[in-house]
Amino acid sequence: MLAQIQYLAQSVAERVIGHRRHLHAYPELSFHEFQTATYIANELKNIGLLPQPMAKTGVVALIEGRNPDKKTVALRADIDALPIKEANDVPYKSTREGVMHACGHDAHTASLLGVAHILHQLRHEFEGTVKLIFQPGEEKIPGGAYLMIQAGVLQNPAPSHIIGQHVMPQLPVGKIGFREGMYMASTDELYIRVIGKGGHAAMPDRLIDPVYMAAHLVVSLQQVVSRMAPPRIPSVLSIGRFIAEGATNIIPNEVLMQGTFRTMNEEWREEAHQRIRKLATELVSSMGGVCEIEIRKGYPYLTNDPELTARMRQAAQTYVGKENLVELDLWMAGEDFAYYAQEIPGCFYRLGTRNEARGIVSGVHTPTFDIDESALTIGCGLMSWLAVEELRQ
Ligand code: NI
Repeated sequence: MLAQIQYLAQSVAERVIGHRRHLHAYPELSFHEFQTATYIANELKNIGLLPQPMAKTGVVALIEGRNPDKKTVALRADIDALPIKEANDVPYKSTREGVMHACGHDAHTASLLGVAHILHQLRHEFEGTVKLIFQPGEEKIPGGAYLMIQAGVLQNPAPSHIIGQHVMPQLPVGKIGFREGMYMASTDELYIRVIGKGGHAAMPDRLIDPVYMAAHLVVSLQQVVSRMAPPRIPSVLSIGRFIAEGATNIIPNEVLMQGTFRTMNEEWREEAHQRIRKLATELVSSMGGVCEIEIRKGYPYLTNDPELTARMRQAAQTYVGKENLVELDLWMAGEDFAYYAQEIPGCFYRLGTRNEARGIVSGVHTPTFDIDESALTIGCGLMSWLAVEELRQ
């Protein structure tokens, strides 16, 4: 089976690169992936599968092996692009001004189409069912994963396990990264308004200075992370926007702040929200002002099921060799795959795409992001192998 998958991955490589380039040239924003979904569905039909639309721009298909009811494993790819203007000069450059596949979701989608091709050909060789999930809107709250789950993607048939892969430009092509347990963070947005009383900057004693209060608040909020957070739970709080529209001689009426709070534990996450609210309102009120604060919840934290991840690491070792496995560090970014992993055991692993010699080093979400496309052959072959190995359990 291993040799067959490796052979098929090689033979489908050009086709997968073609898919990736097409998707890259025609990127679509979150929840607007209409042409992308049509493209995916058409390719699945070409292969001989029966694609089903789900949650407007999502696509689901089943590959049934022998004894299809025995077990179902889900494989997930996200399909949306970002509002970024591509700066790369490549033949497959985005044709859509201001929209770009800058997070590699084109690569995830192309890889999963490659998996469809490989496993459809091998369907008489394995037992169980592989559920292919092409998911929209990873980059935008509430997250396509959430909507797909609401639409029933984890039922009929219900997968017992789910596997997802994501490109990683920090990792050289050929390397694969795993981490068991806590991996990525919950992502909540903070919107804060500090209201005082503005006027001439020469007479602060007659005013209630919101800049002074907000400056205190920026510093004080860090105690949520440094004094209140349990040390075993990673937590980050950052204020990235601070707008005070006064002047050298004008104190404004209010200051607007925006930021993010991220962590890896749902109980602490809820408690932290209470602490942040209390701290902000009481601190500002103690200085004579008023603080309005809104916390918009984003994705939950992502945890990789330890048993499944250990099995996938073992299987990957067979596929790429021990020397190509990397232990991933905690990553405080968010990912809506977390929703699936809260419902059933999940494993979200990383596919190396970096090629220093060719200058492919830019991070995700940058205008110069690109991948070494040889990663796609590993991506579709490895994912096929992981699915088949998990079905054998
Ligand atoms: Ni992404």
